[in-house]
Amino acid sequence: MKIKVQTKSGEFEYNCEPGELLLYAGLRHGLTLPYECATGTCGTCRARVKDGEINLEWADAPGLSYVNQEKNELLMCRSTAPGDCTLRVPAEVSEGMGTKTVPGYRKGEIKNVRELTHDVVSFDVDIDSPMSFDAGQFAVLDAVGVTGGRAYSMVNYATSADTLNFVVKRKPEGKFSDWLFDNNIAGHKINVFGPLGKATFHPEEKKNILCMAGGSGIAGMMSIIARGCDDSHFADHKGHVFFGVRTAQDIFYLEEFSSFVEAYPKTLEVTIALSDEDVTPELKNRFPMIKFQTGFVHTVTSEQMAGKYENILAYVAGPPPMVDGALRMLVLEARLPGTDIRYDKFG
Ligand SMILES: Cc1cc2nc3c(=O)[nH]c(=O)nc-3n(C[C@H](O)[C@H](O)[C@H](O)COP(=O)(O)OP(=O)(O)OC[C@H]3O[C@@H](n4cnc5c(N)ncnc54)[C@H](O)[C@@H]3O)c2cc1C
Ligand code: FES
Repeated sequence: MKIKVQTKSGEFEYNCEPGELLLYAGLRHGLTLPYECATGTCGTCRARVKDGEINLEWADAPGLSYVNQEKNELLMCRSTAPGDCTLRVPAEVSEGMGTKTVPGYRKGEIKNVRELTHDVVSFDVDIDSPMSFDAGQFAVLDAVGVTGGRAYSMVNYATSADTLNFVVKRKPEGKFSDWLFDNNIAGHKINVFGPLGKATFHPEEKKNILCMAGGSGIAGMMSIIARGCDDSHFADHKGHVFFGVRTAQDIFYLEEFSSFVEAYPKTLEVTIALSDEDVTPELKNRFPMIKFQTGFVHTVTSEQMAGKYENILAYVAGPPPMVDGALRMLVLEARLPGTDIRYDKFG
C-alpha cells in the first residue's frame, strides 16, 4: 500500500508491505522520519492520520502518552496500515540519508552466547547480508514468540559486518529477557532491522568525548571507544568513560577497558561507579588501569569532570532515570549545548 506523509519540508510517498510498521517502511525508503527508540516508548515518531485506516499494534505502548489519540494521532513505530493512507508528520523530513546507511531487514542467527554476569549476556547475530553501521548505532531484534521487536545497541561497528555483537541485561519479567535467558538461544533465527540511531561517533568531528553509561548502556559506548582507539582518536583527544552499576558483581568488560586504557594511558580514563556498595582494595588491585568510585554515575561524573568540559561531545545511554539524571547534569551543571549531547534512553 501507498503511504503519503505531509511534513514541514514537503510531501513524500512510500510503499509499505502488509503488516509492516509505518516507520520502518519509511526509513527503508530513505526518508529521515523522526524517531528515537523505534520501539514505542519515547513518542518521537508521533504523526496524525489525515486519511485512511491504521492499526495500532501495541495498545499499551508508553509512547502513546505523548499522542492525542482522540485527534487521530499515532506512533509510526508501532502502527501498520491495512490500506493506503496519508499522515501528517510534524517534523522536517528529507529523502536520502547522505552517507548514513539506509536501514533494512535481515535474517540472523544467534551464535556465541556468553554469560558476562548473573544477569547480563553477550551474543552475536550472524546476518544474511553485510551491514555497514556507525559506532553507537542500534538494531531492532524480533524473535519468534516475543511480540514486538526490541532495540539493542551494537557493541561492534563496521563498514561491512557479517556479525553484530550485542550485550543484554535481564529485565525482571521482561518478555525478550525471559526468552533470552530461559532458552538455549544459540542457533535460533532472529529478524533484524537496522542500523538505527543518531547517538553516533565520528572521529572527524575532532571532539574530546565523555561517555556515561548505566548497566547495558555500555554496549554502544564499547563501539565508540573501540572506534576511538582503532582510529588513534585518543592520540590527540581525551576520552572520559563513566560506567555505573550497582555492585561489583554487576561489572563486566573490565579486561576490555584495561586494554583500551593501556593503549592510551595519558588520554583515556575509565571510571566504574558503584551505587550500592563500597569499592574494595582487591578490585582496585586487580584492575590498576581502571578507576573505581562509589556513587551514582552522574554524581561521580559531575565530581570527576569539573573543569574538563572543553570541546566535549557527551554520549549517554542506559535506563531512563539514569539518562535523565545525566542529561540534567550535563545541561545545568556542565552547560553543554544540546548539540553536544547524544543519548539513547533504554525504555
Ligand atoms: C535505542 C535503544 C537501545 C537499547 N540497547 C540496549 C542494549 O544494548 N542492551 C540492553 O540490555 N537493553 C537495551 N535497550 C533496552 C531493550 O530494548 C529492552 O527494552 C530491554 O531489553 C527489556 O526488554 P524485555 O522484552 O525484556 O522487557 P519488556 O518489558 O517485555 O519489553 C520492553 C520493551 O519492549 C517493547 N515491547 C514490549 N511489549 C511490546 C508489545 N506487546 N508490542 C510491541 N513492543 C513491545 C517496548 O519497546 C518495551 O519498552 C535499548 C533500548 C533502546 C530504546
Ligand atoms: S520512536 Fe516511536 S515511540 Fe519512540
